[in-house]
Amino acid sequence: MAKPIYILNGPNLNLLGLRQPEIYGRETLEDVANACGALAEDLGLGIRFHQSNHEGVLIDWIHEARGQGAGIIINPGAFTHTSVAILDAMNAFEGPVLEVHISNVHKRESFRHHSYVSLRAEGVIAGFGTEGYLLALRRMRSLVSS
Ligand code: DQA
Repeated sequence: MAKPIYILNGPNLNLLGLRQPEIYGRETLEDVANACGALAEDLGLGIRFHQSNHEGVLIDWIHEARGQGAGIIINPGAFTHTSVAILDAMNAFEGPVLEVHISNVHKRESFRHHSYVSLRAEGVIAGFGTEGYLLALRRMRSLVSS
């Protein structure tokens, strides 16, 4: 059995569909998980889809992905802009990493313009709404099969 792709979501993304829908849309994280699951099946990939509001829990999943995961797609939420610890964990992961943001962070406050995770990610998708996860999954398919 091929190794799965870890799809990790950071703080407040459990409120997707409810918080600031004018920025993040009306789809829930469960909708996103279901859409990713369906696409992954089409692409012949397995996924582990997780969300946590806690930095250490996200880091534990990144560590788990070492050895157990083929790649990581991550929307670190606000930890994107603050967490050297998540960057360090990512640097200890050997497979491809893709970073996803639902909103276009570059069109927003300047503190959202810097991402620690981008120092590690092979690619970044921002501003494509929740479709960004599906685009990242397609790209991940190419990265893990090349
Ligand atoms: C986000 C953008 C971040 O700046 C923000 O803190 C989030 C969500 C996005 O998906 O657009 O929580 O990562």
